Amino acid sequence: MSGGAHRGPGRLAGRRALITGAARGIGLAFAEAYLAEGAQVVLADLDGEAACGQAVRLGAGANAVKMDVTRQESIEEGMDVAVALMGGLDILVNNAALFTAAPIVEIERADYERVFAVNVAGVLFCMQAGARRMIAQGTGGRIINMASQAGRRGEGLVGVYCASKAAVISLTQSAGLDLIGHGINVNAIAPGVVDGEHWDGVDAFFARHEGKAPGQKKREVGAAVPYGRMGTAKDLTGMAVFLASDEADYIVAQTYNVDGGNWMS
Ligand SMILES: NC(=O)c1ccc[n+]([C@@H]2O[C@H](COP(=O)([O-])OP(=O)(O)OC[C@H]3O[C@@H](n4cnc5c(N)ncnc54)[C@H](O)[C@@H]3O)[C@@H](O)[C@H]2O)c1
Repeated sequence: MSGGAHRGPGRLAGRRALITGAARGIGLAFAEAYLAEGAQVVLADLDGEAACGQAVRLGAGANAVKMDVTRQESIEEGMDVAVALMGGLDILVNNAALFTAAPIVEIERADYERVFAVNVAGVLFCMQAGARRMIAQGTGGRIINMASQAGRRGEGLVGVYCASKAAVISLTQSAGLDLIGHGINVNAIAPGVVDGEHWDGVDAFFARHEGKAPGQKKREVGAAVPYGRMGTAKDLTGMAVFLASDEADYIVAQTYNVDGGNWMS
């Protein structure tokens, strides 16, 4: 863990943020963007060592906790440590998730339960734990859930993951409507296809199941994006900062597509 004061003025100056699944990928990019806007950030991840290494690299204002979003005691402990480190909690990003894919006739119950434990129950109970602390603090807050274009419609080989992300969109709506009464804005981001370790796994799956060469699926999905390429984690940080900022104060229970034009809703 590293400590220290946050980095001076910015759109999130003085805000205290916890981001789950922030040891790499999109969550890590959000941590960097929030720090750059003056927030303090706790990187919470199952891979506590990687999160800690990244927090040290990011320097002043960044800290890390090991957190397993599938275990209630780990959520509570991680949130308590984060609140103690930062002096409170204003922004929670529920970003940790697992990907899985299989034809419907091959889906295994254990895999369904593993993915829903992280992607759905993890989001719900982190949201609850974060909201309880924000309500006790009495200063409102921001919760941003990571959905996906996969939550907008099903895909033949991706039934479980798509259903988990549709659930995130629905939970964002319900929690958004409930928690705005406490001054807590809940919204979500639905990325399209974002290059990184997550998509390395997706590409490997399609290489096995559709006989594609490694890298071929990535090239295909990138070419199909109206913008003309796959996204990067950095493409999403503008929306993540905006939804956490004062400018988004009147935005409640929405899910925003940030996907280069893949989906319109
Ligand atoms: N990459 C994409 O193309 C894409 C597209 C749409 C949506 N998303 C969503 O964006 C978010 C981030 O995606 P990414 O590509 O950075 O993913 P990633 O797989 O690179 O990172 C996920 C992180 O979550 C952590 N994690 C996994 N299980 C956990 C648990 N039980 N408790 C705590 N942490 C846990 C992992 O250790 C990892 O650091 C996810 O919600 C994902 O579904 C990604």
